[in-house]
Amino acid sequence: MNENGGQPQQQTAPVFSIPCRLKDGRTCILRNMSEDDAEVFVRIIPQTVEESDFLSYLPGEFAKTVEQEREFIRDHLCKPRAWTAVAEMDGNILAYAGAASLDRKRYAHHAEFGLAVVKAVWGQGLGRKLTEMAVQWGRDEGLHKLYLRVFDHNTRAIRLYESLGFREEARLKDDFLRGDGTYGDTIVMSIFYTE
Ligand SMILES: CC(C)(COP(=O)(O)OP(=O)(O)OC[C@H]1O[C@@H](n2cnc3c(N)ncnc32)[C@H](O)[C@@H]1OP(=O)(O)O)[C@@H](O)C(=O)NCCC(=O)NCCS
Repeated sequence: MNENGGQPQQQTAPVFSIPCRLKDGRTCILRNMSEDDAEVFVRIIPQTVEESDFLSYLPGEFAKTVEQEREFIRDHLCKPRAWTAVAEMDGNILAYAGAASLDRKRYAHHAEFGLAVVKAVWGQGLGRKLTEMAVQWGRDEGLHKLYLRVFDHNTRAIRLYESLGFREEARLKDDFLRGDGTYGDTIVMSIFYTE
């Protein structure tokens, strides 16, 4: 039995598909994630993990099967408040992003956002576009705040988030292990929609 007392869960995440022009002139499609992306995700997530030191997995750690990833996506899409997006070009996923509220009424007024762009298309505007879309989604949902967690050495991402209105709200000291073996702080950055 699930938390809805056995009722099948309904997808809450919005469905959309819009063209987006990269800075180099190529066009991709920004669309919501679907369970069928699981097959590509089990390839793309480890790739993005290998390409930077800024995601929560360490290289080689992501080991989900397609079915496990499919279930993860399905759960995300059915959270009480959820948003997802992928940037797709010629069947390849260039970036993925998501935001969701926790499944508890005490926490329903906020959501956490996450994002990764494939290194080959860094600097093409996708990170900015997807973050802007998530911020707009939070506003449309009537959220009180949208927050994210970013590693303290991820200056490029911090600059992007600051430029879109996110501000440091908290800092978790020595929270994660860097690739070089040292511990880093996780910075919680938020947008308060009421300010
Ligand atoms: C951080 C990340 C999401 C940015 O995405 P992106 O698509 O490269 O970002 P954009 O092209 O939209 O650029 C956003 C900003 O980044 C900065 N930026 C872009 N290219 C840059 C470069 N070559 N060097 C330094 N900063 C750069 C600029 O401030 C830019 O602002 P602008 O739009 O005014 O030019 C992406 O680099 C990434 O996925 N990194 C690895 C995973 C990660 O860090 N995820 C976020 C975890 S919190």
